[in-house]
Amino acid sequence: MSQNREQWGSKLGFILAASGSAVGIGNIWKYPHMAGQNGGAAFTLVYLACILVVGLSIVIAEFVIGRKTQLSPVGAFEQLAPSTNWKWVGFLGVASAFVILSFYGVVGGWVLKYVIVSITGGFNELAGDPDAAGKVFNTFITDTWSPIIYQVFFMAFCVWVIVNGVKGGIEKWSKIMMPLIVVLLAVLAVRGMTLPGGMKGISFLFNPRFEDLTANSIVLALGHSFFTVSLGMGTMITYGSYLNRKQNLLNSAVWVIALDTAIAMLAGIAIFTTVFALGANPAEGPGLIFVVLPSVFSQLAGGTLWGTMFFVLLFMAALTSAISILEVVTAYFIDQKGWSRKKATIQFGAVITVVGVFCSLSMGGGVNITEFLGMTFFDVMDYLSAKYMLPIGGMLTAIFILRKWGIPNFMAELKIGMEDTNISSGLVQIVLTIAAAVVAFIIFNEVYAEIFGKALIG
Ligand code: TRP
Repeated sequence: MSQNREQWGSKLGFILAASGSAVGIGNIWKYPHMAGQNGGAAFTLVYLACILVVGLSIVIAEFVIGRKTQLSPVGAFEQLAPSTNWKWVGFLGVASAFVILSFYGVVGGWVLKYVIVSITGGFNELAGDPDAAGKVFNTFITDTWSPIIYQVFFMAFCVWVIVNGVKGGIEKWSKIMMPLIVVLLAVLAVRGMTLPGGMKGISFLFNPRFEDLTANSIVLALGHSFFTVSLGMGTMITYGSYLNRKQNLLNSAVWVIALDTAIAMLAGIAIFTTVFALGANPAEGPGLIFVVLPSVFSQLAGGTLWGTMFFVLLFMAALTSAISILEVVTAYFIDQKGWSRKKATIQFGAVITVVGVFCSLSMGGGVNITEFLGMTFFDVMDYLSAKYMLPIGGMLTAIFILRKWGIPNFMAELKIGMEDTNISSGLVQIVLTIAAAVVAFIIFNEVYAEIFGKALIG
């Protein structure tokens, strides 16, 4: 089977697909409000340190495992450690894909709805009135049918791209959408900076306020450095498995991380300059995107255009990420079960959509599963994946290399394609050990907080 396994068409295509996975709702929605609330540049500095140590090393680890085995996570771990329990790390990844995409698809549907509302000028009546915008948003997400319809459309897009294959679907659409995201964000950032008072947004985002940087901010920065580059469930193993042996994996990983970080900051600039220029509340947190921005854009001349640009780029960012999540599931059924791409994608796209329907309904639209573990079903899925499944998956990947596969084997694969760069195995060992230890501490901290009601730090 492996001789006709699909491959990326070019290095650029691979980097854009992998950064398409990385750049998502996490960059455009989560990073700006987290940085805004946790000390601005002080938070960004911590985040950069985390991404350089933990993020970069685990991205490289996943690329190496994928390229070496030319298989998606379950097969990859099985091939490198036959007849051991390590394949369960792969299964954990496939399970995480189900969990994450179920709620990610719901949010993708919300974004699609906001694209339509902004194109049709629907934000105009919300100008300068975040309360009204909040009501509109709440009415929509707690409705029974309409969020489900949008979610189904979002998932259908995702399935359609993947059915078209690695090169003809994922790579092709990443090459179109990633540059568009950057251009649209850059235009919005320039628009924001040239608004009277817009520069106050820049200082809010980039002045270090160390007094606002708490222990909790540090934990947040670490968790985010994981989520934002799609680590811990074998997304990057799967994308790495479509590579031939010509590429420099270190260099590719640096590109993905640099693009991911640059786009997060650009999003922060676009959002906060506009919010400050129009005197809206920058500390709004999670409601920033769906509540504050619609009321803010519609106050600008040409507001329909700016709002539409923003939600279209957010839609593309969400779509390229969702694609990478579904591809993990698709690749598992192709590699391990011999299914066709079309059958695997359509069947499991449908299953995940159905699970997502329950996430959507748990927002208040009907099915009464809101009291599950004291959280809505939507929040349960988010919580399980972000706090446990992804960190555990990432930590086990690092431990796998350190304790099972071995640094020498890892180095041998890493060095292919980077002949002129010297990298010492001692350094790789130290960095992977730090990454595993830091993530282990975060997981421990979370479990401790669950049991004792108070975290060790944060
Ligand atoms: N990185 C994406 C974001 O920032 C989300 C994402 C896509 C993801 N694939 C993933 C997160 C896999 C964890 C694992 O929105």
